[in-house]
Amino acid sequence: MANLPRYGPVGLHDPQQEVRVWLHGLDEPLDVTRNNVVAALRPFTIGVMLGPALPRDLHLRPLRLCMHERGGAEELLGAIHLRLVRSIPLPDRHLCLFEPARFENRCVGALRLAGYDLYEKARGYLRQRRNRYNFLMTPADIRCSHVFYLCPRPVVLVSVEHEDAGNLFPMDLIGPTDSPWYTMALRSTSPAVRLMQQSRRMALASVPLSWKAVAYELGKHHRKTHIDWDALGFPTVRSPLFGLRVPAAMRVREVTVKEFHEVGSHILFITTIESEELPDRARELQLFHSFSSYRNYLRQEASVKDLSPAFPPAA
Ligand SMILES: Cc1cc2nc3c(=O)[nH]c(=O)nc-3n(C[C@H](O)[C@H](O)[C@H](O)COP(=O)(O)O)c2cc1C
Repeated sequence: MANLPRYGPVGLHDPQQEVRVWLHGLDEPLDVTRNNVVAALRPFTIGVMLGPALPRDLHLRPLRLCMHERGGAEELLGAIHLRLVRSIPLPDRHLCLFEPARFENRCVGALRLAGYDLYEKARGYLRQRRNRYNFLMTPADIRCSHVFYLCPRPVVLVSVEHEDAGNLFPMDLIGPTDSPWYTMALRSTSPAVRLMQQSRRMALASVPLSWKAVAYELGKHHRKTHIDWDALGFPTVRSPLFGLRVPAAMRVREVTVKEFHEVGSHILFITTIESEELPDRARELQLFHSFSSYRNYLRQEASVKDLSPAFPPAA
């Protein structure tokens, strides 16, 4: 069977145990598996929390993010060489923002990757034709994001409400930073940015794999200024701390916005987690996005086959 490249949804337990991420170039290699996030897509910008003190020559260091398979031979799957572009000082650390200087994807052969690039280019072109306001990443940034997504990234459903407007939409440009700080990057043109800036509080519900179709359908909400909660087609409950409407029976984290910054195409929200609920449902396989080989994907699918959701959501 051909080992083709593939970017898309996978079902994994959270936190993922498939890939380990190392930052090389500091005095010692640093395990940043739970500390590497997307800050913007254009230009593709990666955030890593460092500090409290930063090496003076950080901008000169040959830093690189290395994705290794976990277990077995711990093989190197890909690497992104980083160029420091900005550091956001926080009370106890620095959120360092990097753009890729170069990158390598060792997941599958160069010829197949080149074919996949053409496929992505055609998809981008079609999306742009469908809606000329659609967001277009550069081909190099898309290829680099594939290396970044060698490490699977979870999808959450974000609830936000302010005065009489509210929204519920999926996000995957999110993440922990091995610190009290949790980041979320939302396109600056998204109407929900204003709600997040004004209310300064959100609830993040983890998405079971069985909710994949629902999560993608809710992607349409990214273009809306507010939604009709009664038309969602699934039950919601109030989150424990902020009383925001969230899908029932999911793992819910409530966050407070401490700062937000414009980073290229996106607004980067720097938040802290204020409460967390972990019902049994959160132990199911969760929806992640990942770039891997098709062979890997089939292996994962085989382990998902027996998955029978407790109550399938109304699509
Ligand atoms: C599962 C999922 C996760 C997404 N995560 C983010 C995100 O983290 N940040 C963001 O700015 N947009 C995110 N989006 C929004 C998409 O990039 C896109 O803007 C949205 O789906 C509308 O696209 P359309 O105009 O092609 O329908 C996400 C969409 C989906 C479906």
